[in-house]
Amino acid sequence: MKFLHYCNGQLLADEVAIADLAKQYGTPLYVYSAAHMTKQFLAYQQILQDKKHLICYAVKANSNLSVLNLLAKLGAGFDIVSQGELERVLKAGAEPRKIVFSGVAKSIEEIKRALEVGIKCFNVESEAELYRINEIAQQLGKIATISLRINPDVDAKTHPYISTGLRENKFGISYQLALDVYRKAASLNHIKIVGIDCHIGSQLTELSPFLDAADRILILVDKLKAENIHLEHIDLGGGLGVCYDNETPISASTLVSELLAKLTNYADLEIIFEPGRSIVANAGLLITKVEYTKHQDGNYFAIVDAGMNDLIRPALYKAWMRVLPVREPKSSDKKECYNIVGPICESSDVLAYQRELSVEQSDLLVICSAGAYGFSMASNYNSHPRPAEVLLEGGKQHKLIRKRETFDDLWRGELVL
Ligand code: LLP
Repeated sequence: MKFLHYCNGQLLADEVAIADLAKQYGTPLYVYSAAHMTKQFLAYQQILQDKKHLICYAVKANSNLSVLNLLAKLGAGFDIVSQGELERVLKAGAEPRKIVFSGVAKSIEEIKRALEVGIKCFNVESEAELYRINEIAQQLGKIATISLRINPDVDAKTHPYISTGLRENKFGISYQLALDVYRKAASLNHIKIVGIDCHIGSQLTELSPFLDAADRILILVDKLKAENIHLEHIDLGGGLGVCYDNETPISASTLVSELLAKLTNYADLEIIFEPGRSIVANAGLLITKVEYTKHQDGNYFAIVDAGMNDLIRPALYKAWMRVLPVREPKSSDKKECYNIVGPICESSDVLAYQRELSVEQSDLLVICSAGAYGFSMASNYNSHPRPAEVLLEGGKQHKLIRKRETFDDLWRGELVL
């Protein structure tokens, strides 16, 4: 994380001391760098500047309104998967015509609302969904613009929980059935076919699965053309990985330029990407405070105030996330191998295993790369209010972009009989 560095024995993010942020806003605390997110987004935009394109940021990665607003101002479109995400992006200033709607379980209400606001396109994930959209569009007297999300049956070579493009996954329409479903879509009066799309998984570090998926999708594009089914866009999803530890993922510009090279014969097709993690992961961090240390039976525990409720990636995917002490370690410090554990009553509530650290009660630690799938997957389990979120605006500037939840927030909507 380039925006994190030590200066005079203290960890800084941009030019702001982490310890000052913790003091001002409390812990646990999510912090994001606007400059880093902007840079990541512009990397996609710059390499695409000569091609008709739309970068639809995947809202699920980090859905704070300020983050969405920042990206909307840079020209981003949005990939949403629920009405909640739709309402969020609209509130953050998104243009409906830049919204694509993915997800396997779109409800009648969600489809109605998306048609009312006039989104760019539904990424249809089943034949049954196609008929539902057609029917609702008919009731509303509208034409729904759709793309079929194809499951290309490609191994994304990533964690099985975040692999989505294999035939056994619930996502998309089977490659074998794709043409047939397109023909059916073409016969429906309230459907306009505008695109084709795929998304094969997340945290992909290699190029080859992206290229294999694109090849398979382009074969379908050719077949559709031969049947007079014309497309306006091709959406190659998100999924580009980031460095958490020592991974060396391909860069956004390599990914995009390699894919563009495949599209030279498809000059009229707009290209869409749906990146999430690669825009925000390394722009974010989670600050946590050591409540206690405990040494027993040969185990060293640093018991911190953030848990799996705040950041579930380590518990859910055994994800490795870098942990940095806020006080710069000295070579003379006596280090031990700590498990960094949270307050939740689950043995899986471990943020990091076996980290060489010198820690004391009340020390601050930073969990790096927590900008994606961090706060957006947080919960109130064990009745912990969710953390505050702060945006670093460059230099020494920072702003609260989400208040820490209060105890009243915990039971909002609940009724005592
Ligand atoms: N488009 C679709 C249809 C998706 O399902 C996803 C992510 C994306 C785009 C964005 O993918 P990205 O560029 O962020 O890899 N919670 C997991 C990741 C789940 C990803 C789900 N879909 C994690 O923390 O690793």
